[in-house]
Amino acid sequence: MESITIEQSDGKEMILAIENMSVARSGKLILSDINLRIHKGEFVGLVGPNGSGKSTLLLSILGILKTQSGSVKMFGHSPMSKNLHGNIGWVSQAAANLPRDIKITVRELVQLGTVNAKNMFQLFDKERAARVEKAIQMVDLLDVKNTDIGRLSGGQRQRAVIARALASEAEFIILDEPLVGIDRDARNSLLKLLDNLCHDEGKTILMVSHDLAAIRQTAHRMIFLEETIRFDGDTEDFPDLVSLADLRGIGRVHEDMHSHNHATAPSKEGE
Ligand SMILES: Nc1ncnc2c1ncn2[C@@H]1O[C@H](COP(=O)(O)OP(=O)(O)OP(=O)(O)O)[C@@H](O)[C@H]1O
Ligand SMILES: [Mg+2]
Repeated sequence: MESITIEQSDGKEMILAIENMSVARSGKLILSDINLRIHKGEFVGLVGPNGSGKSTLLLSILGILKTQSGSVKMFGHSPMSKNLHGNIGWVSQAAANLPRDIKITVRELVQLGTVNAKNMFQLFDKERAARVEKAIQMVDLLDVKNTDIGRLSGGQRQRAVIARALASEAEFIILDEPLVGIDRDARNSLLKLLDNLCHDEGKTILMVSHDLAAIRQTAHRMIFLEETIRFDGDTEDFPDLVSLADLRGIGRVHEDMHSHNHATAPSKEGE
């Protein structure tokens, strides 16, 4: 987008820069002293126990929650800046839990992803129609594109919501637990799709998941969050759960990651 100025850092375009950020909710400090930089083309996995502040971090990045201190910049702009329109794609936690009685087809839902402040009152043109078709194809839903979303399986709905983000042509895609409720095949094809978007189209991805095995298999970089960032580095250096407990100074992480009903322990799945 022409209005976007991109800061350079070490020769790589900076997509996100967070400095000394703290966030409180209902008077309680949830995140403190967050420092994070994400560059173009990175695929970053964000993990941490229940209630550790992962969704809060994403909502703060998006500007939906106010920060108590520190700064957040995306593409060099503050969150919610109109210069960012169309550049950020967001798949919220439980986004696929759309009311079943909504009468809207997959194609219509994905089309909504192409609406932004600039084209809101314009006709739906060929270029946008092609983007919608491509996004639906990418998530492998062409055969149900005219079906109401209420009739889809959970995994199909999840993919439809992701297609909506893809159709927006956002440069930076933020996903909160997109793998919940989808079966293993769909999960693997989704991870592969996201990986391809980084490699082939230079998209930048920040994804929260409790499925450690799946995310380690795909993300290039991992962040472990618990009020603050406790680990940030290459996926291959990401500590196993036992060492994570050391990182936290307590031995609770193991239960926490497992107590989640959709948690998956890191396992050798041979994939
Ligand atoms: N609206 C709110 N008002 C006050 N506190 C909140 C609110 N929403 C969440 N919190 C608290 O903020 C903390 C972090 O919540 P958050 O949803 O960011 O965690 P999370 O890491 O995304 O957890 P999960 O893995 O369960 O999705 C929790 O202690 C939670 O109780
Ligand atoms: Mg969450």
